Amino acid sequence: MRYILTEDRLPEAWFNVVPHLPEPLQPPLHPGTRQPLGPDDLAPLFPMALIAKEVSAEPWIDIPGEVLDVLRSWRPTPLVRARRLEEALQTPARIYYKDESVSPAGSHKPNTAVPQAFYNKEAGITRLTTETGAGQWGSALAYATTLFGLECKVYMVRASFEQKPYRRVMMEVWGADVEPSPVDDPDHPGSLGSAISDAVRDAVGRDDSHYSLGSVLNHVLLHQTVIGLEAKEQLALAGEERPDIIIGSCGGGSNLGGISLPFVPDVGVDLLAVEPSSCPTLTEGRFEYDFGDTAGMTPLLAMYTLGHDFVPPSIHAGGLRYHGDSPIISNLVKNNRMRAVAYPQGKVFDAAVQFARTEGTIPAPETAHAIRAVIDEALAAREAGKEEVILFSYSGHGLLDLGAYDDYLHGRLIEE
Ligand SMILES: Cc1ncc(COP(=O)(O)O)c(C=O)c1O
Repeated sequence: MRYILTEDRLPEAWFNVVPHLPEPLQPPLHPGTRQPLGPDDLAPLFPMALIAKEVSAEPWIDIPGEVLDVLRSWRPTPLVRARRLEEALQTPARIYYKDESVSPAGSHKPNTAVPQAFYNKEAGITRLTTETGAGQWGSALAYATTLFGLECKVYMVRASFEQKPYRRVMMEVWGADVEPSPVDDPDHPGSLGSAISDAVRDAVGRDDSHYSLGSVLNHVLLHQTVIGLEAKEQLALAGEERPDIIIGSCGGGSNLGGISLPFVPDVGVDLLAVEPSSCPTLTEGRFEYDFGDTAGMTPLLAMYTLGHDFVPPSIHAGGLRYHGDSPIISNLVKNNRMRAVAYPQGKVFDAAVQFARTEGTIPAPETAHAIRAVIDEALAAREAGKEEVILFSYSGHGLLDLGAYDDYLHGRLIEE
């Protein structure tokens, strides 16, 4: 059962969670002086329009018409009731998922790539640099930059560059130049932290270039709130008063933020972050100021972190291999407004295959983390005889991750 909104129901403003946070966000610090950053410190990396959104406390921020025009080519995305999965689990829970896999790049990432490309173009920038893990973010930015006529340079984590050649091809089809990272160490599997260092170094060295980040920062989570805003309206169409629990996989936090932030003010809605046990930032990290990248070039952010030099194992959910987490998500977890759980990838792929064999579509390994938690929640509801409403973000499809499924099906997957 699908709940569809017409094009004119696409949200026209982003939801800013900042005024609703349990405690004020701690300011980002300058990497050299360790003093709070001013807007000018960020100007070599981002256009002023995005910096303004990064620090805004306005409750709603209008989405420019040019951005809406592009988002409308796949939004509003469907909300789907996973009835066959419910039946297979024999659960009284009602499971709904927001299908972000229908975007041109196949994930939620274009929701922020499009406005980032737009604001940079408006500021006269002609080239963007970025990092990518599994290639989902890089492909989203390659798509958005080509629409706005910008050049795009993507530093791709070497482990994924080698495991997932088709994402690289996708980026190249959209005109991007893709290079494995770290650029100066060809034997290193890389990490999102080191790819960020490569991309930032490139952008600060050129006047025509800015840097673009696919997650973590406040303005990125802001752009993603279209997911949760649409879901709220669609759940009402489905006759649901509110979800009891919202579940999302968490790498840097943009997918989870996108589906859950519009529900933060709603009492009785439980929020759950799901991460890999091999990169357990929220469940085992420390809350402290840390760099966003490995080389220590980015501002220091107050967040849960495993340490900026942490190199996670090369699991298939490349987009979840990040040492830190969004300050907004960290703030919610620290103040017990959100919970977090971690799973090893073997259990995650069990869930992915169960989903594919009931609902039909094949999820991205990142998305499958959320599905694992959804299945466990639905089984717990069965035990408790509880009719709860579960909402999760189906953040991307896995059609370019079939090598991972091949490993799983043929006993080559590392359980970790
Ligand atoms: C399909 C998919 N889901 C979820 C994520 C998690 O990332 P984030 O938490 O930064 O949104 C990623 C990251 O690449 C992804 O590709």
